[in-house]
Amino acid sequence: MEVGEIYRISGPLVVAEGLKARMYDLVKVGEEGLMGEVVGLAGERVLIQVYEDTSGIKPGEKVVNTGMPLSVELGPGLIGNIYDGVQRPLPVLKEKAGDFITRGLEAFALDRKKKWEFKPTVKKGEKVKPGEIIGKVQESPMVEHRILVPPNVKGGEIREIYEGSFTVEETIAVLADETELKLYHKWPVRIPRPYLEKLPPVVPLITGQRIFDTFFPIAKGGTAAIPGPFGSGKTVMQHQLAKWSDANVIVYIGCGERGNEMTEVLEEFPELEDPRTGRPLMERTVLVANTSNMPVAAREASVYTGITMAEYFRDMGYDVAIQADSTSRWAEAMREISGRLEEMPGEEGYPAYLASRLAEFYERAGRVKTLSGLIGSVSVVGAVSPPGGDFSEPVTQNTLRIVKAFWGLDAKLAGRRHFPAINWLISYSLYIDTLNDWFKNNVSEEWPELRRWMMEVLQEEANLQEIVQLVGSDALPESQRLLLEVARIIKDFYLIQYAYHEVDSYCSPQKQYDMMKAIKRLNEMFYKALESGKSVEEIINVDGIVEFLKSKYEKDYKSVLEASLEKIKKNLGV
Ligand SMILES: Nc1ncnc2c1ncn2[C@@H]1O[C@H](COP(=O)(O)OP(=O)(O)OP(=O)(O)O)[C@@H](O)[C@H]1O
Ligand SMILES: [Mg+2]
Repeated sequence: MEVGEIYRISGPLVVAEGLKARMYDLVKVGEEGLMGEVVGLAGERVLIQVYEDTSGIKPGEKVVNTGMPLSVELGPGLIGNIYDGVQRPLPVLKEKAGDFITRGLEAFALDRKKKWEFKPTVKKGEKVKPGEIIGKVQESPMVEHRILVPPNVKGGEIREIYEGSFTVEETIAVLADETELKLYHKWPVRIPRPYLEKLPPVVPLITGQRIFDTFFPIAKGGTAAIPGPFGSGKTVMQHQLAKWSDANVIVYIGCGERGNEMTEVLEEFPELEDPRTGRPLMERTVLVANTSNMPVAAREASVYTGITMAEYFRDMGYDVAIQADSTSRWAEAMREISGRLEEMPGEEGYPAYLASRLAEFYERAGRVKTLSGLIGSVSVVGAVSPPGGDFSEPVTQNTLRIVKAFWGLDAKLAGRRHFPAINWLISYSLYIDTLNDWFKNNVSEEWPELRRWMMEVLQEEANLQEIVQLVGSDALPESQRLLLEVARIIKDFYLIQYAYHEVDSYCSPQKQYDMMKAIKRLNEMFYKALESGKSVEEIINVDGIVEFLKSKYEKDYKSVLEASLEKIKKNLGV
């Protein structure tokens, strides 16, 4: 350990002198031992970002280098936990210090006293490689925690392995070279965990949200961004993804939005139920929470803490989904620290390395073959909150260059209470083609064609609306007026999906297909009726249409949908 002293303090940035350090060393700052990380070396001086409030500490106080990089603990006890940006468990901090977290508090990320039932899956005498699974712990009813040989351990023959009840610090196996393995290991957050190979993104992350799964799907291991102005639905959509995505594990990173928004997450998440199993959602979730009153540097660290935990579950062969809300707050933390470091500012004061930091983060997503030969994935969805809703600002623009799905929220749609307020005309997904086969093989051959047709109607509607703005809809021929009505049905029936509706909050791929198919059939009936001489008004007010539109809210939607289509057919005489 090396000791130096504080030379200068500037908010979250501390300059130390007389300290031997390398970039990213973890240091303890001041008499209270505040946690910090070396972010710059300037001759004799060391620049440190501090993860705790620095007010009151003074020049001359000591700075101690731990010689270790900022790392997280990976092992049983992660699931269901709530951490701050540097993986301190908030419930434990709260117990120690009350609502106002005092400084210099140390708390282990993983409970040191709790015993876990460990069942080995390899035997004495077998050879194991780095990253290989040697046993399991049933961590929660929903997650079987697979214990790995740490990727940075050489591996070799197993000399001893024990079955039974262990704390995370007890030895569960010994290798031939005398390395003792435990239920947990540490990993530096800024270093991506290794895997064997990246696999193509050919399996969708099913979100149960029609606008995503049908029109702008994300692959397992894929990346997506949700930019949106204030109050347009970023957080609600992130919650929907956390609730409904078909991932084994969810890592939710709350990056210091409004103080009360994180409180909502902390209060709301523990109450949520997994719709598939009826179990508490926290049994498959890890929360990283930064309220806006926590120091900016901790916010900067939180995305790394979150993604490292996600990669760890991926290495067990699981599909993991990360929601980061909002990456703009992370970028602002970078900007503030960069400013204090007196670096040359780039666009809008953000550091020049903003783009590369964002890219490095999203690049840690992927579907991979793990070191143990399993398939696992990390999918990343980042919310972006551009000031004033202006998508041309640097964080949105740089994010768009990296992510492969873009879900653009629109204040106008939100204002009309069209939720989710995703603008279908500006959004896109580069996964559509790679996922077509999956939808064809697992839902219906017709899936790609139905989607293409619906999007075509929506785009045609957008074009016609420009004419309608100028001359009114009466000037359009009947067939085009009917198209506007079909587009309205696609919007009201298909695109609108209220997060808070008991039934419609989640829509399975099968139901999405059934609904698309029903709209297509309705469309055919409408045009037949038009040909047979009925007016557009008669057609769209046909008896049965109300039941049709409401069918999605029924648990047994299929029979209601069928019945309404029969009724409409009869009444239109087609
Ligand atoms: N899918 C949805 N279904 C129903 N209501 C929604 C949906 N999405 C958004 N809303 C409504 O919009 C409101 C604002 O959404 P939300 O808090 O997610 O916005 P935000 O973009 O995160 O805002 P901020 O910029 O303040 O963080 C919600 O409280 C809710 O009433
Ligand atoms: Mg929000």
